[in-house]
Amino acid sequence: MPNIYQFFGGSHFAITWAEIRALQFYKRSKLEDCDKHLKICSFFDKFFWDYVIANTLLVYSNLSKEKVLDMFNFMGGSLKVASYAAQNKSLSKLIHDSLGGIVKSNLAGNHDINKHGSNEHSDDITKIKIRLNFYNFSKNDFETAINIIREQKKAYKQKNILIKFVGDINMPFVNTASSKKYLQKQIPEFNITFDDSKKLYVLTRTLGVQNFDLFETLEFNRPERDMKIGMMPIKLAFIMLNLANLKKNDGFWDPMCGVGTLIMAGILKKLYSYGSDVNFIALAKAKHNIDWLLKTGLTNSAKFRIFKFDIFRNPKNNKILRDIIRFGRFDAIVTEGYLGKPRKKPFVNKRQLNMQLREIEKLYSAFLKTVSRLIFPGKRVVFTVPIYKTIFNNKVSWVMPNIDINKHRYKIVKYNTGDLVWRNKKSNVARKLFILEKIK
Ligand SMILES: C[S@@+](CC[C@H](N)C(=O)[O-])C[C@H]1O[C@@H](n2cnc3c(N)ncnc32)[C@H](O)[C@@H]1O
Repeated sequence: MPNIYQFFGGSHFAITWAEIRALQFYKRSKLEDCDKHLKICSFFDKFFWDYVIANTLLVYSNLSKEKVLDMFNFMGGSLKVASYAAQNKSLSKLIHDSLGGIVKSNLAGNHDINKHGSNEHSDDITKIKIRLNFYNFSKNDFETAINIIREQKKAYKQKNILIKFVGDINMPFVNTASSKKYLQKQIPEFNITFDDSKKLYVLTRTLGVQNFDLFETLEFNRPERDMKIGMMPIKLAFIMLNLANLKKNDGFWDPMCGVGTLIMAGILKKLYSYGSDVNFIALAKAKHNIDWLLKTGLTNSAKFRIFKFDIFRNPKNNKILRDIIRFGRFDAIVTEGYLGKPRKKPFVNKRQLNMQLREIEKLYSAFLKTVSRLIFPGKRVVFTVPIYKTIFNNKVSWVMPNIDINKHRYKIVKYNTGDLVWRNKKSNVARKLFILEKIK
């Protein structure tokens, strides 16, 4: 049975959305089913089969919940994933009907936590614990919801059914950490999201939350981090691998691997992960990080190679790359390239800015030329380019180097989700994401 999943966006929605589109949760041959299946499908994008509500994305899919959760474990963009349950223009009816459904399945003795509700029976009193979140609610709507819930609770109490809403129902905001806590206690969580444009409410049930324990371990517990090289967020590493269209056991190359964040993410995703760098110290650190990863037991196998290579050189002069060219080539190139010299302040000097831009342009031009020889047409190159914060005449602007994409026969893969820029609030250097495909 096809399903609709709801993904809750993180800090960079355009990138989160592109990651979801790249993962292709839909099957093209089955698209017509969606319309027949549910009315809401008529709002969906007719190519990608998704629909944005507030900071969340509804995605039509033929994949099972288990499969989606499996993929979700290694997705960097979304905070939470849920499966569609109901929709209604009337908030009162939606809450009424959904509580009715939960109670009914509890009374039917349905203890299957995967269906509805967490229940306890004692002395003819049924206690049901659930958690409910509201997204994109106005203050008015929120107060209405709370009143409806109060009335419903009273009505059920008279029938000896105690419904307990766990967590702080008065706080209409996203707190994924607490979602995880309740899910672990097997207390089901529901979400109601208000769709401004269609004026309707959508109810979904949470399946899982972001694997942030793993992400924090990888980011903060690994032995080698290097502020000088630049700290690549592990979430971004998973996102970039997902944008590269890679299947299990495919091989990718990160030719500017630094201390190996992408290589660690690739190993966890069961990819053949090749990392190279011009800097020996970075390579030793990458190796150290990977050894640590293997020791943690987070993975029981790792297929990787770390080697020295300068992106300005001819790959045919490198034994590993020569063999790759001869026997197969990579399924994708994924790299967070050099970001320029570390910067504590925005550029205020035009000459310095231009020097930095020219250095980056030369490096990325060499990168695109070199890697084009290592992949076949149809394969992807996913990389970031630095964008610099500048202040000239008291005006802030962000400047990007000029990278000639077409020169080495690539086309840009477009997901039309907005500007793919990864920018942290305080940083003076942002990263622009590029997804290219090699053409003949
Ligand atoms: C921003 S860092 C990459 C960080 C990496 N993603 C990580 O997680 O550690 C950029 C890397 O590019 C490398 N690099 C710069 N110029 C290079 C070149 N010509 N060939 C290969 N690597 C180069 C630097 O040594 C540096 O480690």
